[in-house]
Order: sequence, then structure tokens, then C-alpha cells
Amino acid sequence: MLKGKDLLSIHDLSVDEVFEILDLAAELKAKQKAGVPHKILRGKTLGMIFEKSSTRTRVSFEVGIFQLGGTGLFLSNKDLQLGRGEPIKDTARVLSRYLDGIMIRTFGHDRVVELAKYADVPVINGLTDLLHPCQVLTDLLTIREHKGKNFRSLKMAYVGDGNNMTNSYLYGAAKVGMTLAVATPKNYKPNEEVYENALSDAEETGAKLSWTESPVEAVKDADIVVTDTWASMGQEAEHDERKKIFVPYQVNRELLKNASKNAIVMHCLPAYRGEEITDEVFEENANVIFDEAENRLHAQKAIMALTMCDR
Ligand code: CP
Ligand code: NVA
Repeated sequence: MLKGKDLLSIHDLSVDEVFEILDLAAELKAKQKAGVPHKILRGKTLGMIFEKSSTRTRVSFEVGIFQLGGTGLFLSNKDLQLGRGEPIKDTARVLSRYLDGIMIRTFGHDRVVELAKYADVPVINGLTDLLHPCQVLTDLLTIREHKGKNFRSLKMAYVGDGNNMTNSYLYGAAKVGMTLAVATPKNYKPNEEVYENALSDAEETGAKLSWTESPVEAVKDADIVVTDTWASMGQEAEHDERKKIFVPYQVNRELLKNASKNAIVMHCLPAYRGEEITDEVFEENANVIFDEAENRLHAQKAIMALTMCDR
């Protein structure tokens, strides 16, 4: 279903396509653990453009394409002519002559959209200021592993900044029918257009999406509590101001008293202990958080296999 398609946003995927990715990710993870090779992308090359820093995205995509029999090329904007002003539409058409797929991490979401418009090969969004779809698909896989397959019975609470992760959680929850309560300060809400789109996606699955200013209200009876940095990449200059505003949004033991007894805490990483999460809450949930990090590999292998495979 996804063959030859781009993966720019979970909003663009059908409900079936979301579950197809999760199911294949679980299958590829099991194969990898059993030592069964799955070289479905033998001879294929993925270009990975980075205009922002990365640990997980870079390593998991590069290792992932290698495990599928292909090769990954790390393309930093510091080295590409793109970084000196070559238009994205020209870069897209040139790279399409060499590569079988392009992953890009950048600032404005419009850059990814333009790249995809001009590229003849699948384009995968490795994070923009607006969205982080690969991470949220990964998180859905991790939730299934820790909380079972019935998303409709689960409540997730997102506490913190209304950023690219929040926007993608809204899209992800809407597609799988999960309840999602978002708590952010009122001047740091998730993107309005994303919120509206997600509400409309939720009509298909019955997902309940809500926003509140109150972390306690959002976390009430939640099965999954999730947070992210208060100052995303590109917002470093706002860090000190944000740090003051977001203090009530810290995920700590006191806040978690409101969650369900067996609640898990997730974080896409990198985490800033003492800011959005306390060290003790992080370490108590380290097994889930590092499963989440590992699952980037498996989820993205599924995404690459589905979008880049000829068959
Ligand atoms: N979570 C995530 O995308 O991590 P990196 O910024 O290290 O890629
Ligand atoms: N919101 C964070 C996510 C990092 C993976 C950022 O954009 O910096």
C-alpha cells in the first residue's frame, strides 16, 4: 500500500497503513532478534539529509538500511551545496537520479514538502519543526509492547511544550483510536491546524483528543505519560525563559500520583533531567524509554521496507 509513497506525516496515512507499519516493525524486530536476515532492500541506497543534530535518527536509519541489505549515505547540510543555497527542488531532482529514498531532518516543514514534491523517490520525514512521525510510529509500537494491542482502551497524557512531538502524537492517537490528553501552557499549545485535522481523523476511530492547561487533569488515570524537551532544536535562545514558564509541567513523582497505578513514562530523547522530567522518574522508566529508542530501528526498517521496496 505504501510502495513508492512518501512518509511526511501520520495524517497522510490511512488507519490500515499505520497498522501495516506497526505489524511489519514487530515482525522485523522478531526476525532481527532471531538472527533471521531480511535483505528486502538489497542494493538500495537511502540518502539521509540532516540540517539539525541527531543521535537516534541518524544511527537507526543507517543501521536499519544496512540490516535490510542496502546502504545509507549521511548527508550533512554543512557539506551539501544545499547548505550554500542550492534550491531544495534542484537537490531533490539530482538526488532522485542516484538514490532509492531520501530521509530528511530539517526546520520548516515546507522544506520536506517541497523536497517530496520534486523527488521521484520516497521521502521520509526524520523530524521538522512541525512533526516527528517516525518517532511517534515508534512510540505506538512501544506502547503495544508494554500495554497491549488495544489502543482504544488506553489513555495517553502528553505534558509539556506543544511541539513537533505533540503534533505527531495527536495524529498518531487519532489513527489508532487512543485517548490523548495534552497539557501545555496556553501560549505553547500544539499547532492549531494539526489539532483540527487530528480531530477530524479521530471521527473515523473514535479517539478522544483534548487539550488542557492542567497537567494534573491530563495525567488523571493515564496509562502512558509522555513528555519532551521544553526547548526544541532551533529554540535554544528561548531556553531560559521557557524553563521558568514550564516548571508546573515537569513530569515528577507528585504528578504521576494522578496517573493509573501501572502507568509507564515515555520520552523520545534527548531528555533534560531536572527540567521536563526528574532523574528518578526517568530512571524508574528507563526500560521503556530505551525500548522506545531501540524501536526507532525496527519502525523505520518497516517504513523503508514498505516505501522503498519494488515488490
Ligand atoms: N528522538 C530523536 O529523534 O532523537 P535524535 O534527535 O537523536 O535523532
Ligand atoms: N522536540 C524535539 C524532539 C527531538 C527529537 C526537538 O525538535 O528538538
